[in-house]
Amino acid sequence: MTTNIQWAELARAAKAASEQAYAPYSKFPVGVAVQAKSGKIYSGCNVENASYGGTICAERNAIAAAVVAGEREFVGLMVYTPQEQLTPPCGICRQVIAEFFTPDSPVRSCNHLEQQQEWTLEQLLPSAFTPLFLANSKKF
Ligand code: THU
Repeated sequence: MTTNIQWAELARAAKAASEQAYAPYSKFPVGVAVQAKSGKIYSGCNVENASYGGTICAERNAIAAAVVAGEREFVGLMVYTPQEQLTPPCGICRQVIAEFFTPDSPVRSCNHLEQQQEWTLEQLLPSAFTPLFLANSKKF
């Protein structure tokens, strides 16, 4: 069964989330929407902190919002930034995405110019360390 990914709705939700971004330091608002296997869509924005390391990216906030709603599996993710250069997820977020998405999952980025780019998670994070390594591990 192929999952129907609602890309237009994901783009709309990601853009709306970016409008709530708390990014007073970088002035780089980001919104992300994820579609769970259930079909439901969840979104998040980046939330920065005066102690810069306390910043949480939009991707992780969107996934956390879905997890607290009971979701564990996802089919697609959309990033929105109002930038001419389409923004892919950062390295930490790629790792968090790999926890809940399969390697062939599509990750897209879009912007205010209606441009889009798509990668698979595998392209963004090859040879990912996933929960499987722990499940198959020898216990010491
Ligand atoms: N940011 C995200 O929210 N997602 C990304 O994938 C790239 C970076 C945020 C973190 C920070 O608030 C700002 O963008 C600049 O790094």
